[in-house]
Amino acid sequence: MISDPHEAEFQALIDSDQRIEPRDWMPDGYRRSLIRQIAQHAHSEIIGMQPEGNWITRAPSLRRKAILMAKVQDEAGHGLYLYCAAETLGVDRAELIDLLHQGRQKYSSIFNYPTLTWADVGAIGWLVDGAAITNQIPLCRCSFGPYARAMVRVCKEESFHQRQGFESLYALSHGTPEQHEMAQDAVNRWWWPSVEMLGPPDTESTHSAQSMAWGIKRFSNDELRQRFVDMVAPQAVVLGLTPPDPELRWNEDRGHYDFGEPDFEELRRVVSGDGPCNRQRAAHHLAAHDEGAWVRAAAAAYAAKHPATSAAA
Ligand SMILES: [Fe+2]
Ligand SMILES: [Fe+2]
Repeated sequence: MISDPHEAEFQALIDSDQRIEPRDWMPDGYRRSLIRQIAQHAHSEIIGMQPEGNWITRAPSLRRKAILMAKVQDEAGHGLYLYCAAETLGVDRAELIDLLHQGRQKYSSIFNYPTLTWADVGAIGWLVDGAAITNQIPLCRCSFGPYARAMVRVCKEESFHQRQGFESLYALSHGTPEQHEMAQDAVNRWWWPSVEMLGPPDTESTHSAQSMAWGIKRFSNDELRQRFVDMVAPQAVVLGLTPPDPELRWNEDRGHYDFGEPDFEELRRVVSGDGPCNRQRAAHHLAAHDEGAWVRAAAAAYAAKHPATSAAA
C-alpha cells in the first residue's frame, strides 16, 4: 500500500509505461540505482575503447583503420551521452570518474580481457557489441527518459558495430588457412566472456527484481543470454567458425538454442578485479585523465572568459 502521494504518482507513471523525467519526483532508491547503472554503463563505453584502440596503429589496411577509428570514437560518444544522462539525476561527471578511479564503480568485466591479434577486433564487434545490443535494446524502453533516449542512438551505432565486426571476421575466416585459424582462436577466447557479459544467472542477480519493478530492466539476465545465443549461433555458421561450446545445439521443442553453463566463477573473479587486464585498464584511464587535466583547465578558463558564447553553445 503506497501512502505517499508522490510515490503513488511515480508508480502510476511506471505502471502506465510512461517515462520518468529528471524534474519528476522519484524514490531515492530509484535515483541511486539509475546513477549506479548509467555510470557503470558510461564507464564501460569509455574503458571499452582501450582493447580495440590497441589495434588502431596496426590495422591491416587504411580502410580497416578508418572503420576502427570511427568505431572507437563512437564508443567515446556513447560514454558522453551516458554521463550526460547520469548528470540529469544530480551527480557530476567528475564525481563519477573519481569513483571509477577509486574502484568504487565498475565497468563491464569483458574489457578486462586482452586483444592478442587483429582478429580480436572482429570478434569484439561481432560478439561483444552483439551482447551489448541484446542488453541495450530493451533499455530504449527504460522508465527513465534521458537514459531511454540515449539508448536509441547508441543502439543504432552498436548494430553497425556488430555488422562491421561480423564482416571483418568473415573476411578472415574466408581468407588464408592462417587467417581462418586466427579468427577461430579469437572466437574461442571471446565467446564465453561475451555469454557471461549478460550478467550473473537470475538466481544470483542482486539488483534484478527491483530494477524490473521500476521498469529499468525489462528482461532477466538469463532471458537476455538466451536471446544473445539465439542471435549469434546461426551467424557463427555463416562465418564458418565454431563456438567453443560442445553443448550448443538447436532445440526444436524449445524453439531456442541449448548451450553450456558459462563459468560464472570466472566472471566473479574478473568483476572483483582479478581479470587479465583490470589493473592495466584502470592505470591507463587514470594516466590519460591526468594528462588531459590541462585541456579541462583550458576549456574551463575559456568558458569563464566567454560566458555569452558558452551559454549559447
Ligand atoms: Fe558503445
Ligand atoms: Fe560498440
